[in-house]
Amino acid sequence: MSLIRTAVTGVGSFLPETIVTNEELSKTVDTSDEWIVERTGIRQRHRAADDQPTSDLAVEAARRALADAGKTAADVDLIIVATTTPDSTFPATAALVQSKLCAPVGIAFDVQAVCSGFVYALSVADGFISRGNAKCALVIGAEEMTRLMDWSDRTTCVLFGDGAGAFVLEPREGAGTKEDQGVLGFALRCDGSKSELLYVDGGPATTGTVGHLRMIGNQVFRHAVVNISEAIVAATEASGITIPEIDWFVPHQANQRIIRGVGERLGLDENRVVSTVDMHANTSAASIPLAMDTAIKDGRIKRGDLIVIEAMGGGLTWGACAFRL
Ligand code: UT7
Repeated sequence: MSLIRTAVTGVGSFLPETIVTNEELSKTVDTSDEWIVERTGIRQRHRAADDQPTSDLAVEAARRALADAGKTAADVDLIIVATTTPDSTFPATAALVQSKLCAPVGIAFDVQAVCSGFVYALSVADGFISRGNAKCALVIGAEEMTRLMDWSDRTTCVLFGDGAGAFVLEPREGAGTKEDQGVLGFALRCDGSKSELLYVDGGPATTGTVGHLRMIGNQVFRHAVVNISEAIVAATEASGITIPEIDWFVPHQANQRIIRGVGERLGLDENRVVSTVDMHANTSAASIPLAMDTAIKDGRIKRGDLIVIEAMGGGLTWGACAFRL
């Protein structure tokens, strides 16, 4: 049975210039390179300049993804930005991105599912494309998590960074089999009863301030490996594929120990797991497209490969998606 699949036809990413090493952080907060590397795998993170808002990172990543797809901004009819650090409360960062790209009037909005935002946004775009309501979509994960840090809290400020990554999505006719190019299936979850484990202690309707990120890290950790593994299994079942068939596993980059734990639980070949957490730290919704772009550019991921992405974050939200590049 032929059907319309949502194909990833371009990938791009952008990192702000300034790099902050563990060593530098250890001069201002009671931590050490040794502790951070051992407990997280993180060695450095990028930090946006004061005059460089999230939309600027998103626009650069989008331009690179469009060039990769052989498209221009004039082709874009849908923009979804997954972010938890928007430039302003409103308009949506996606609206600002549309304007800065000089893309035509079309659909543009943000998705707020924190670190799972990119997986959520991809599934939303899949709905538009597969029903024929969009022909060229930009799904962008863009974050400036450093803006949410309490720089005196060593349990959180060493973990996060800034960056952006983008996919261009276009319809492709498929045969309805797992050999089709494009999104094959996904699984999305939220358990709001666990929101106090990871949250920001501010907001327009409460404190009237932006607030700082707060996390009970070891409790989030405990949920992460189990929840992510369950979502991956559900997404592969929804896609009609098996775990051994996966060519590349591109996880959310929060902690190398979580990535390893999921890999061990599911029996994934560690040589097939993309990890960039050492270079980027946790960039929330940007981490998956940043990791994807890294592994495409260095030649590991190739067209036709079967990819599974996953994420978990504030909400708690989590999810996974399988697609063939
Ligand atoms: O993307 C959103 C989802 N977020 C995550 O997935 C994060 C999940 N959680 C984690 O990655 C880990 O729990 C952390 C990296 C946040 C923490 O690692 P942990 O092995 O779970 O450590 P812990 O929180 O149990 O803390 C162990 C010790 C504590 O000291 P005491 O109480 O044993 O004396 C902390 O105070 O490590 C201490 N500690 C630090 N020490 C040096 C916490 N942060 C630091 C630090 N430097 N930066």
